[in-house]
Amino acid sequence: MDLTLDQAKVHYLDSAATVYPKPKRVLERMVELYLQFGVNPGRSGYDLCLVGGGLVDSTRKKLTEFFGGTDPNRLCFTSNASDALNILIQGLVRPGDHVISTVLEHNSVIRPLNHLREKGTIEVDYVPCGDHCILDPDEFGRFLKPNTTLVVVNHASNVIGAVQPIAEIGEFCREHGLLFVIDVAQTAGLVPINMQSLHVDALAFTGHKSLLAPTGIGGLYVREGVTVEPTRYGGTGVRSAHPFHLEEYPYRLEVGTLNLLGISALYLAQDYLAEEGIENIYRHEMALFTKLQEGLQDISGVHLHGTVKLDNRLPVLSFTIDGWDPSDVGTFLDVDYCVACRTGLHCAPLIHEHMGTAPRGTVRFSVGPSNTEEDISVALAAVREIASSHR
Ligand SMILES: Cc1ncc(COP(=O)(O)O)c(C=O)c1O
Repeated sequence: MDLTLDQAKVHYLDSAATVYPKPKRVLERMVELYLQFGVNPGRSGYDLCLVGGGLVDSTRKKLTEFFGGTDPNRLCFTSNASDALNILIQGLVRPGDHVISTVLEHNSVIRPLNHLREKGTIEVDYVPCGDHCILDPDEFGRFLKPNTTLVVVNHASNVIGAVQPIAEIGEFCREHGLLFVIDVAQTAGLVPINMQSLHVDALAFTGHKSLLAPTGIGGLYVREGVTVEPTRYGGTGVRSAHPFHLEEYPYRLEVGTLNLLGISALYLAQDYLAEEGIENIYRHEMALFTKLQEGLQDISGVHLHGTVKLDNRLPVLSFTIDGWDPSDVGTFLDVDYCVACRTGLHCAPLIHEHMGTAPRGTVRFSVGPSNTEEDISVALAAVREIASSHR
């Protein structure tokens, strides 16, 4: 396969799928660290192994602080947010439980819940959202049952970008003694997250979006006092004679060799985010996003879906063009204009039913840290031409 590509030509508006490119200094230093001590951390007592283990521990500490957690051992690494959400959902419910989730969720929440429902283990309800696709915390009460134990909510949707009223939903959960899990796949690294002030019991994150690590690393944090039953068992590198998987965190929810390369990147990217300031990165992306959204609103035949509010949101939007199938728009944007975006349902089918954009979905533009004014003008000019052309 020819792996050469003229990177300079691509106007990448698909950061909600993964941020690209990642900061060079994170990637280069990650490889340097791996070249120095890319061994199996936590397995042996020689120096290389101890240094690798130290890096893993320091990354747990940095991320615990980043999310407002208190015990770095309760920060467990997984391969991505989907993996983390599976571990949390399957490990927190018991047969007969009722779970409340929302129509904003990604399939990484909907599918584990639906599988458990299908097996007869749990009952599930999905709370609809209101104006601008924002959840109304008061709506959750309507779905409460005597057997409700868990609430799972997306911090911000990957389709429409609205940041949800998590603290208020968290208060509702505390009042009713429910466990509260949030999916911060889209927000981590762009929006400050403090689990304590949000009243969150556990969160799931992925490394490859705004946390600026490569794909294949993610994790979860579980508050003290909350017990997640392990659903996978295996090697931990410690207490090998023990016949069962270890009960203590972080081993409890981690199996097998960790992704040291990905963890190194998370460690380095935490420094990068602290130096650059996540508020500055957010401001840069939102300035471009505002131009993009306002430009699209001015194009005849273009319809924005979901929220158009410009505050408390992420730089991701969904639109359709009269007379056009979203996937054809994506193909034209790519082939004729070198604009990379995502089309379809974006792994979040329920929100499209709510918005009336199922089954074809939408075209999604999402702005990232490396985008420039030029990317926005090229994308707007392209959509203008597509919308004005007759099919
Ligand atoms: C809101 C949301 N949740 C979960 C995920 C799953 O993340 P990953 O593919 O890294 O497991 C995504 C990925 O797009 C997402 O946008």
